[in-house]
Amino acid sequence: MSNTSSESRNKKIPLLDLQPDGGNFLEETLNGLRSDPATLPCKYFYDSHGANLFEQICELPEYYPTRTEISILRDHLNEISEVIGPQARIVEYGSGAGEKIRLLLNSLQEARAYTPIDISREQLIASADSLQQDYPGLEVLPVCADYASELTLPTPKAPFARTLVFFPGSTIGNFKPREALAFMKRFHQLCMQGDEPGMLLIGYDLKKDRAKLEAAYNDSQGVTAEFNLNLLHRINNELGGHFDIDNWRHEARWNETEGAVEMHLVSQTEQVARVNGDQFPFAAGQTIHTENSFKYDSDEFRALAEQAGFQRLHYWQDKQQQFQVALFQAQ
Ligand code: TRP
Repeated sequence: MSNTSSESRNKKIPLLDLQPDGGNFLEETLNGLRSDPATLPCKYFYDSHGANLFEQICELPEYYPTRTEISILRDHLNEISEVIGPQARIVEYGSGAGEKIRLLLNSLQEARAYTPIDISREQLIASADSLQQDYPGLEVLPVCADYASELTLPTPKAPFARTLVFFPGSTIGNFKPREALAFMKRFHQLCMQGDEPGMLLIGYDLKKDRAKLEAAYNDSQGVTAEFNLNLLHRINNELGGHFDIDNWRHEARWNETEGAVEMHLVSQTEQVARVNGDQFPFAAGQTIHTENSFKYDSDEFRALAEQAGFQRLHYWQDKQQQFQVALFQAQ
């Protein structure tokens, strides 16, 4: 192995830290609790405990999206990589533990640069470091940020043929369709960087029967419940809040009209929560809506991406048609 590889083993790679936890937690919490119906901002799920719990969710028997997406990617890697072509710069939104990108990196020809973007700082640093070790020739440029805000990303030193936006995990479903459209328009702008028009490789969950959907977000081991309730723990620990956690229960509801699984925290009794001197009364059965996971069908998703300026090149799905991975090109 050459010098550069042993150097990169010892050197920590630079992190562009856009300070996603820079102090809006209190304000956003109070605004959410004051609104009717009450909400809490979902990005605060992912402190290091939350990021760990999420890794556990991905392995749960009921949570089919992760393993289904990985098997779709694995089954079609050659074809996917051929369409993307050599010398791509990859930008991944919500890179998490950084597992899926390895599949792509092992199969793409001469990937030039990789920018993982994630809100969970420790997990991002650890996964970027380990990736840099394993792919010494790749320019790894991690960005710690709330990717829902507008970002200026680092420019790779190496020239690249095209930008590939990688957005797996059906995370696009955590945006309301109107926000998802705005977000994909930003992907489109990013795809204009590079010699050739960029592409979007994206995974989304398909509409299916209620029982299957609700089970995926309400597992029998209670991990998803702990993940949802972690928001209340964070408010208590970090904002000096007073939520009586034992009096709240996790619930996942498939809202067929909206096309979304909604995550709620349900008040088990009449009670008052306090945060920062403000009081928030809750009736028994009243909920705090914490997250949405929108589901699509194939044509619906293609129409959404087309509105953002993308043309669908290919899509792949599992035999049971639970999940799709699609490759779009910026027009
Ligand atoms: N992107 C994941 C999804 O929508 C996120 C997720 C999985 C999630 N389980 C959750 C978010 C439970 C909140 C609560 O499938």
